[in-house]
Amino acid sequence: MLTANELRQKYLDFFKSKGHAIIPSASLIPENDPSTLFAGSGMQAMVPYLLGEKHPLGTRIADSQKCFRSQDIESVGDNRHTTFFEMLGNWSLGDYFKTEQIDWMFEFLTQELKLNPASLYISVFRGLPKKGIERDTEAAELWQKKFASVGLDAPIVDNAETNGLQGGKIFYYSEDQNWWSRSGVTDNMPIGEPGGPDSEIYWDFGAQLQIHENSEFKDQPCHPACDCGRFLEIGNNVFMQYTKTEKGFQPLPKKNIDFGGGLERLLAAVINTPDIFKTSAFFSIIEKIEKISNKTYAGNEKAFRIIADHLKAASMILGDEKGITPSNTGAGYVLRRLIRRAVRYGRLLKIKDVFTFKIAELVIEMYKNAYPEVKKNKDFIINQLVLEEEKFAKTIEEGLKEFNKWYQKPKIYWSEEDEEKQKEQEKNILQKLKTESPKIMPGFVAFRLFSTYGFPLELIIEEAKNRGLEVDIKNFNKEMEKHQELSRTASAGMFKGGLADTSEQTTKLHTAAHLMLAALRQVLGPDVYQKGSNITPERLRFDFSYGQKMTPEQIKQVENIVNEQITKNLPIISQEMPTNEAIKQGAMGIFGHKYGDKVKVYSIGDFSKEICGGPHVTNTGKLGRFKIIKEESSSAGVRRIKAILE
Ligand code: ALA
Repeated sequence: MLTANELRQKYLDFFKSKGHAIIPSASLIPENDPSTLFAGSGMQAMVPYLLGEKHPLGTRIADSQKCFRSQDIESVGDNRHTTFFEMLGNWSLGDYFKTEQIDWMFEFLTQELKLNPASLYISVFRGLPKKGIERDTEAAELWQKKFASVGLDAPIVDNAETNGLQGGKIFYYSEDQNWWSRSGVTDNMPIGEPGGPDSEIYWDFGAQLQIHENSEFKDQPCHPACDCGRFLEIGNNVFMQYTKTEKGFQPLPKKNIDFGGGLERLLAAVINTPDIFKTSAFFSIIEKIEKISNKTYAGNEKAFRIIADHLKAASMILGDEKGITPSNTGAGYVLRRLIRRAVRYGRLLKIKDVFTFKIAELVIEMYKNAYPEVKKNKDFIINQLVLEEEKFAKTIEEGLKEFNKWYQKPKIYWSEEDEEKQKEQEKNILQKLKTESPKIMPGFVAFRLFSTYGFPLELIIEEAKNRGLEVDIKNFNKEMEKHQELSRTASAGMFKGGLADTSEQTTKLHTAAHLMLAALRQVLGPDVYQKGSNITPERLRFDFSYGQKMTPEQIKQVENIVNEQITKNLPIISQEMPTNEAIKQGAMGIFGHKYGDKVKVYSIGDFSKEICGGPHVTNTGKLGRFKIIKEESSSAGVRRIKAILE
């Protein structure tokens, strides 16, 4: 069976034979790229060269790049999504273009990897005439010729989204599928960003497996870009030939190629299994988890996949030269989430001992030749994993203690808090215990364990199950909603008018308001405090203490600072804490407002920290462009800003 190390080598050798210089992977944590916390593609490190800067090693470059996509964390668990992956990449920096790329890729896939061309499918760009970008008939015809050279007909289909496969081999799709830039589709691209149409290659695991029919997509037509899992995207040829300017899209001075192929997915195609966790990139980790947990992969796939992916990713992030450690902000927060999520799933498999480092040892073995830094940083990786696992174990222990307190004496469980409220709840629960099945853990109890003790819901369910109880999830969710509603009302009160609703747009503007307050304080000084705000889905209105009219330069500066934080994709996290702790940590509150004993604090990376009831988006990258549309007087010593997100 072809291994990951062999496939990587084959690819690099192949492109070396076509005149490419092989370069080492860039860091997983990109330098000088405020648009993202992690390298999500090989392209990130290459942007200056795609824009025309001369690369010291010439015009043909190939590599295998460590990549991490945090946006995929929640998707891990199916047969093909991972957060960490290796991207095999080759670049033409104003050298060869579509013809050579398609020739070589076809040769590499069908001759080097011996993939059967009958199972390869292709997508190309449908075009965007309004923006002056043509349909990519050229790429479609080049692929057709390649298929013809091995005796295959390759019909072109233009309406697969609605009409399905229709016997096609090459498919036109719109920009959400077949346009590549660092920031996604054309409208999201900032001025000066390079991008272009792309052509993706899919592997077909075959209709006979009936993957589509057994998926949530069964009522929709199946085609290569359908997400059911029958087709797997194994590579993407980007024809990087445009840049966005104030006047629309302009051709770059030179046309480039950016090819990226997921190593793990290519392996899955070669061994023709739709489960990439069965390839050599993962299987030894899966076998190790079987040993540690004394359970089989079959039947426990989701937990195994999450543990394998997350601990591999955590090991690679820790092993990177940047020395990131688990924390509550930025990349450190993502790292913490990965480790804790893996441990949680380990608990579900009844793994009792500290185990994350055992997986890390294996990951280091797998990657030590391709990425020598993981070997160099072995001790650091292992120490950090053990530390974080132990910290999390403590949190879980506390949660369990509370769980047992309730379990042993459900009646006294609530006696520590607000009496009125508890009496009411106690009455309800005793009533419920009498009238309903006593085998239920009420939703509000589970919610309290979850919200106050940080006890993960899956583990609450599991612990309940061990005691023959069932968690009332419906009421847990109701509590959750109630809590969100309460926070909203609290913040609405605080903001003197506050949020008009909790729509997505209002939430985004609310997060933008936090960024703006921090920016205003940077530009105008620390005497700036929030005096009130009112946010609708269309705009935010924000009153703050400041004695003069802002100059146009100051307004521009505030806009720039906010937009800079937006492109940094900062995570937004909330923590509940005692009010004096929040003040000690420097969290901003509303001037003169009285808070209760406990408050919620929202942090946006290291940039902003405010006492607030929420809600907020999870990441500043979702906001779009921030713009101040008006600055005026509100009352004596108070200015008012109106701002929007474009
Ligand atoms: N940069 C391209 C991608 O990640 C190849 O899909």
